[in-house]
Amino acid sequence: MAGRYRSDLKWSDVTPKAGWLNRRELMAGAGALAAGAIAGPAFASLGAKKTSYGSDLEPNSFEDITSYNNFYEFGTGKDDPARNAHRLTIDPWTVKVDGLVDKPGDYSFDDLVSGMTLEERIYRFRCVEAWSMVVPWVGFELADLLNKVGVQPGAKYVAFETLVRPDEMTGQRRNVLNWPYREGLRIDEAMHPLTIMATGLYDEPMPKQNGAPIRLVVPWKYGFKSIKSIVRISLTEDEPPTSWNLANPREYGFYSNVNPNVDHPRWSQASERQIGGGLFAKRIPTLMFNGYEKEVAGLYSGMDLEEFY
Ligand code: MTE
Repeated sequence: MAGRYRSDLKWSDVTPKAGWLNRRELMAGAGALAAGAIAGPAFASLGAKKTSYGSDLEPNSFEDITSYNNFYEFGTGKDDPARNAHRLTIDPWTVKVDGLVDKPGDYSFDDLVSGMTLEERIYRFRCVEAWSMVVPWVGFELADLLNKVGVQPGAKYVAFETLVRPDEMTGQRRNVLNWPYREGLRIDEAMHPLTIMATGLYDEPMPKQNGAPIRLVVPWKYGFKSIKSIVRISLTEDEPPTSWNLANPREYGFYSNVNPNVDHPRWSQASERQIGGGLFAKRIPTLMFNGYEKEVAGLYSGMDLEEFY
């Protein structure tokens, strides 16, 4: 399978080029490799189909995206995931699919993603902490996966869980959060074409600090909704409990749509700091639904977005 990650591939084999090639050259090179024109360590290239999603956005560097992370299973510092996530075993990887589905089961990573079309999606990514990046994800629509396993009529929500493995995820030895990390979406949000399961970025397998081997990406919501290293997907009738909402319901709602008009109780959400912009870069205004208002506002028509934050 083209998108298969390789456990024997060292990041040092494939990442240095990101430092000296610009994005366009990198993409062109990756395309050539996918076509089999060049042999070499970058054979891990995912060969994702290019789309026009986000072609107007300038992605952050591979270095920015993989060195400034939130992944509390590996520590709470921004550089902890990059330092500690190498301990995570991602092969084999099993995802349990259960609840209101026609084909529940324990799916291997390969079985789960087989038949899915990998696509590049360049998305804005806005953390609730008011920093942002632009990331060239590689993934497929969550809707395709849900259709593959067969969603039953009673299912109204999708719940996700991250792996619990304190031996490797050293941040889990402390109760910073109530593990496992949990997230959830309403079924129409999960089925929206912008919602993807990402298995890579910059046309390469997902770096461990970014949630290897498979994570959710919901670009119009605060970053914490985009749960990493998923091992369970459950279709439920009731709204599932979610980690940050459990930890602090006043500060983190179930919806957590990016909204410049609704401040976090402790800081403004009207603007954001772009990672990689340098120390003196001006903050940029935060956009409603993170710039995806045209596509997703209809999901919330008639809802009071201050009440359902
Ligand atoms: N998923 C898990 N399992 N654990 C986490 O700590 N952090 C969230 C989200 N997904 C997190 C997670 C937060 S707060 C953000 S902003 C994004 O991941 C960060 O994604 P990135 O490191 O790829 O930029």
